[in-house]
Amino acid sequence: MTSNNIILTGDRPTGALHIGHYIGSLQSRLALQSNNKQFIMIADLQALTDNAQNPEKVQSNVIEVLLDYLAVGINPGQSTIFLQSMIPELSELTMYYLNLVSVARLMRNPTVKDEIKQKGFNNNVPVGFLAYPISQAADITAFKANIVPVGDDQLPVIEQTNEIVRKFNSVYGNVLVEARAMLTKTARLPGIDGKAKMSKSLGNAIFLLDSSDILRQKVMSMYTDPNHLKVSDPGKVGGNTVFAYLDAFDSNIDKVTELKQHYSAGGLGDVIVKKYLFEVLNTILEPIRKKREDLAKNKGDVLSLLKDGSIKARAVTAKTLFEVKQAMKIYQF
Ligand code: TRP
Repeated sequence: MTSNNIILTGDRPTGALHIGHYIGSLQSRLALQSNNKQFIMIADLQALTDNAQNPEKVQSNVIEVLLDYLAVGINPGQSTIFLQSMIPELSELTMYYLNLVSVARLMRNPTVKDEIKQKGFNNNVPVGFLAYPISQAADITAFKANIVPVGDDQLPVIEQTNEIVRKFNSVYGNVLVEARAMLTKTARLPGIDGKAKMSKSLGNAIFLLDSSDILRQKVMSMYTDPNHLKVSDPGKVGGNTVFAYLDAFDSNIDKVTELKQHYSAGGLGDVIVKKYLFEVLNTILEPIRKKREDLAKNKGDVLSLLKDGSIKARAVTAKTLFEVKQAMKIYQF
């Protein structure tokens, strides 16, 4: 059954995608693409807000992220994949919205606050970074998206988007549409080091592009129960990364239950469980890796998909921009 939902989602191209993305945002996009109008944006302009010194990094990761999307089965015939910088309408909308938000309001955004700390900007926050929620509001409203699938860290950005929508509509007339955040359902996957979140910057991620050798090395080095020293010792399953991954990726629930019982009782070594986890992950990742390698042989073809998607997406945003300018009494010759 098709719905009238318009979905806008995306990623900053600052690194290839990892298996945390796979069970979270990528699965959600695969599920949504067949019966909704889904737009998926590679947010290169947003990536530059904290990588202005690093243009090569952003450029190369546009392709990496695109390859990841296609390799997991995002279908450009169903989902419109586009590049943010190919759509000047998004930047123009941002310019208009900048006047509707105070600096104080931006500084109160808890996500922005956290990121400023994390990135160590101190008193040198780039204006573009501080204002990225406004640019993200432009991304969302340009498509009149009513659903935005995100992780919970992005909720304050959606809230700010809706404030802009209400403000715009009350000042200039009803043009923009409020969006609802749809939380991607899986809890965050821990990193292989046992830290709460898998992330490229923490160096604790398993990437979709990792070879089976690298995958094996990463799994064998995973954090387990530090007190499980001898095979015969009882081991802890809670907080044990290997079991967290089995819960997330192994569809054989009976087998996982059995392994957990054996591990807790003692007599099951980490190496055996890790080898099993490697097989489970490798079975899932092997076809993705293979498809990714095939696609990477023709980067020109892959980029032309992004170009086509961007042309399609741009037409939608041009219509919204026209309405916005009309409402704002801006001359359009
Ligand atoms: N802020 C998102 C991230 O860091 C990326 C993004 C940019 C986005 N514009 C968006 C997500 C619009 C959803 C909707 O991953």
